Amino acid sequence: MTVDITFSNSEKKKSGAIIICFYSGKKALSRIKDINIDLGGFVNLALEKTAGFDGGAGQSEISLLPAKAPYDYLVLLGLGDEKDLDIVEAEKIGGKLYSALEGKKITTAELLIGDSGKDKDKDNNKDKTISYADLAAHIAIGARLRSYSFERYKTKRQEDEDQEQAQAQTSKKPERINLVLSDEKAAEKIFSYQDCGVRGVFLARDFVNEPPNILYPYSYANRILEELKPLGIEIEILDKKKLEHHGMGALLAVGQGSNNPPCLVIMRWNGLDSHQNAKEKTPPLALVGKGVTFDTGGISLKPGAGMDEMKMDMGGSAAVVGAMKSLALRKAKVNVVGVVGLVENMPSDKAYRPADIIKSYSGKTIEVLNTDAEGRLVLVDALSYVQKNYKPRMIIDLATLTGAMIVALGHEYCGTFANDDSLWAMMDKAGEKTGDKVWRMPLDKAFKKEVESDIADVQNIAKCGRDAGSCTAAAFLWHFIEKGTPWAHMDIAGTAWIKKDRDTGPKFGTGFGVRLLDRLIADNYE
Ligand code: BES
Ligand code: MN
Ligand code: ZN
Repeated sequence: MTVDITFSNSEKKKSGAIIICFYSGKKALSRIKDINIDLGGFVNLALEKTAGFDGGAGQSEISLLPAKAPYDYLVLLGLGDEKDLDIVEAEKIGGKLYSALEGKKITTAELLIGDSGKDKDKDNNKDKTISYADLAAHIAIGARLRSYSFERYKTKRQEDEDQEQAQAQTSKKPERINLVLSDEKAAEKIFSYQDCGVRGVFLARDFVNEPPNILYPYSYANRILEELKPLGIEIEILDKKKLEHHGMGALLAVGQGSNNPPCLVIMRWNGLDSHQNAKEKTPPLALVGKGVTFDTGGISLKPGAGMDEMKMDMGGSAAVVGAMKSLALRKAKVNVVGVVGLVENMPSDKAYRPADIIKSYSGKTIEVLNTDAEGRLVLVDALSYVQKNYKPRMIIDLATLTGAMIVALGHEYCGTFANDDSLWAMMDKAGEKTGDKVWRMPLDKAFKKEVESDIADVQNIAKCGRDAGSCTAAAFLWHFIEKGTPWAHMDIAGTAWIKKDRDTGPKFGTGFGVRLLDRLIADNYE
């Protein structure tokens, strides 16, 4: 269960915790005087006695209140320096707050941002970097993001709850946070808009966290259908037969070693035309994702250690599905087509081999030199398909494409390649606003040359081997992008999956990219 958020313009005082915010140097955010009287001077006492707390970003101090107080706990929450406080910082603070409440098993809390309705004129926070409404909404969003957990396969927890009610009571997670500010309507509006993105993130995380025996191409396609169709997204599934009919030789080659056949899923959100009743459909934006539900490497088998993590090799597709969900939830006024290639990369007597030459959907031939460089094969058929059939205004693909990306940028930044400066600028902005950080990487003709083959049109690993592995992989994709189409490739190998908890989410699937795509579309295409 994730945390529920509400907003109100006065305190509800329904036990639980009261949270009061301070900037660095213990400078109070809200008018704490009234509260202080209410809490019998306890706020001042807590401020004086807790030497460790000085209002640093995300810092918190939790103390028990006397029985007669309207709340059980008092939480001092730090917001850091006023000038550093932006929406991404607010989300991190919200995430840290959630963890702090969870640590103390506090299930309900009330956070004071502004004050009650009478204080409205003060609530614009005009000379600050962030309005109170934004601050409240994004603290809430951060808490929401942090409250995600993947417990589908935990049988124990449910039994515990059934059998040991008393214990379950004390092991509960935060269930509800009410944020109090005079501008509660504005905060609520921002929150419900942003929460569409969060719900997309949750879906992407769920898919990445699913094990590969449950989530394989056809079952995944069905899950996509179940999730998105009710939201008004048109879904088309090209099964193996249809892929053969269309000549998607690259995607098929990757899948041929597995008993689980591959498929291509096309998702269409026509938010623009349904609003304007346009006679001709506006060309869509295209989102393309790599959906390798498990990557063993195939005949070019990966080492055993850590291979389990290759269930995350469908992270690009999950981000696309998550973004489609977000767009539909907020009824985005835009036409977007999402295309994901779903396939399992397995070794077997049926598997494709190093040295095979295959024919892609575009007609270009590909010499396979390493069956573990399968992602680019999946992507090029999906990219060609969307270009040929939709003539999109712009394409962004996302893929856990290369280990080299992790070597280059680790888990903090997503290396992003773009053939168009203005598209890159939009992505950079959207990244800054959402915390899905991107870093531009080079597309260069020299890298393109590295993947030209002696006996076919292109080869799937570079002549220079693993040097600049992410760049040569991107250049391989670039061979399949038609002239004049703005295109960006996000290599999310390092950002789709983390092994340590973060402020805004637990370890494993991150849902990276969902909010960036949603933001980018909202800010530039609606
Ligand atoms: N899915 C992997 C890339 C990857 C590695 C993603 C680690 C996330 C974490 C991809 O299919 C792959 O195996 N790439 C090879 C390419 C090489 C054979 C040119 C790689 O990075 O080693
Ligand atoms: Mn691989
Ligand atoms: Zn892969």
